[in-house]
Amino acid sequence: MANNEELFKKIVAHAKEYGFIFPSSEIYDGLAAVYDYAQYGVELKNNIKQYWWKAMVQYHENIVGIDSAIFMHPKIWEASGHVSAFNDPLIDNKDSKKRYRADVLVEDYIQKIEDKINKEVEKAKKRFENFDETLYRQTNQRVVDYQKKIDDVSSRLAKLLNDNDLVGLRDLIIELEIACPISGTRNWTDVRQFNLMFATKIGSLSDGADTIYLRPETAQGIFVNFLNVYKTGRMKVPFGIAQIGKAFRNEIVARQFIFRMREFEQMEMQFFVRPGEELKWFNYWKEERMKWHLALGMGEKSYRFHDHEKLAHYANAATDIEFDFPFGFKELEGIHSRTDFDLSQHEKFSGKKLRYFDPETNESYVPYVIETSIGVDRMFLSVLSHSYEEQTLEDGSVRTVLHLPAMLAPIKVAVLPLVKKDGMAEKATEIANMLRKEMMCQYDEKDAIGRRYRRQDAIGTPYCVTVDSQTMEDNTVTIRERDSMKQYRVAIDQLVNSLKF
Ligand code: GAP
Repeated sequence: MANNEELFKKIVAHAKEYGFIFPSSEIYDGLAAVYDYAQYGVELKNNIKQYWWKAMVQYHENIVGIDSAIFMHPKIWEASGHVSAFNDPLIDNKDSKKRYRADVLVEDYIQKIEDKINKEVEKAKKRFENFDETLYRQTNQRVVDYQKKIDDVSSRLAKLLNDNDLVGLRDLIIELEIACPISGTRNWTDVRQFNLMFATKIGSLSDGADTIYLRPETAQGIFVNFLNVYKTGRMKVPFGIAQIGKAFRNEIVARQFIFRMREFEQMEMQFFVRPGEELKWFNYWKEERMKWHLALGMGEKSYRFHDHEKLAHYANAATDIEFDFPFGFKELEGIHSRTDFDLSQHEKFSGKKLRYFDPETNESYVPYVIETSIGVDRMFLSVLSHSYEEQTLEDGSVRTVLHLPAMLAPIKVAVLPLVKKDGMAEKATEIANMLRKEMMCQYDEKDAIGRRYRRQDAIGTPYCVTVDSQTMEDNTVTIRERDSMKQYRVAIDQLVNSLKF
């Protein structure tokens, strides 16, 4: 899907026009990087959460869920390292007074070179028959040089970030002659660190008030409940604790619609294992999570692993599952082997033992942890962008259709009387009321049938059921499938069984 700006704009517009996502506080001109889920958006989002919860909690005997509070003791964020190290490197342009993430300026620079490579490839594709893209990328001198530049800048950026070398980061921006997109100048300030956590005060008196944070990840709510769940759930290692909930980050560069937001939702699972067995379980979860994505049927080509070469100090393995968004491959989910870092830190800061007694080895230890962490909103965007199609039909007309995986579709079926006479509307209402008990169902009698089909296509409804004059005679209806647009008749009493999700 690589870098398709036009397509992405259409998807964002579609999400608003068809009631999936609205900008927050729109009548007050909006609030940057905050969005509201609308009537269809909330259904799709809930279905995504349910699909994850089922796969993680319901289908695994050794994984249980929790729902911890957003507010937590402020010491938690000291223990986890978020107070001291959850920072973004920021740089200001002195002429435009605009603030940027220094690493993002360099990433944008890299993206521009990638765009150049893609253009070369597209041109060559048109020029040669039997075009071998891999060979072309390996042998075309211009492409090879571009790629070398990308690799060089990427590895220098990774090292600078890893070493927390803010001076070096500024030097790299100057060396690459990166200019402010607004002022066009290279008049940059020093790079400074900026903490991403939102702070607020708890307590009614400002004297006694204490600074607390809106959680920047749900994971810590799991770690601090480890002992409670292990004891009350009589859990045996290896076991997992899963949670879905809101997280907040004061992202400076919040962009690409719901890809990077200031308030978002995460689906995280921490899997507690015996020390020494963590890499085995890391590989297990890598595979399991990819299988979960692939089961949605959005194609193997849409995903890739990005194994981390540079690891956070507490991790001994990490990978991202990246998705091919309209703006290129980007992180959708992170899988990390976090060692015993978090539990050990909480032991230290709380003074409480967070140990597991292993009846098989008669040992007590701090378990190691494999984490799987995926953003609900990013998952939503991956599904929405992959499903969107402007399809030219045989008669030359164009329909906009969302090929949503049926189990995630907000509305599963629409019931439509062909015309509003001869009792068809009443019959269709009766059928809709019957279906409503089983699934999300919509009744629509307004406008010509073709337009009603298009409306359902645009919100991704997998099936339309049409009531026509034959229905009144033999109690059969027409089912129309969204993707193939094929139609077939079934008896009303077979209807529920005929709709497959
Ligand atoms: N507990 C680990 C953790 O929070 P992360 O890579 O910072 O790791 C995990 O976040 C996932 O949360 C990401 O893969 C992404 O899907 C989602 N995510 C992170 N920041 C986000 C943001 N600002 N807006 C939307 N989703 C975000």
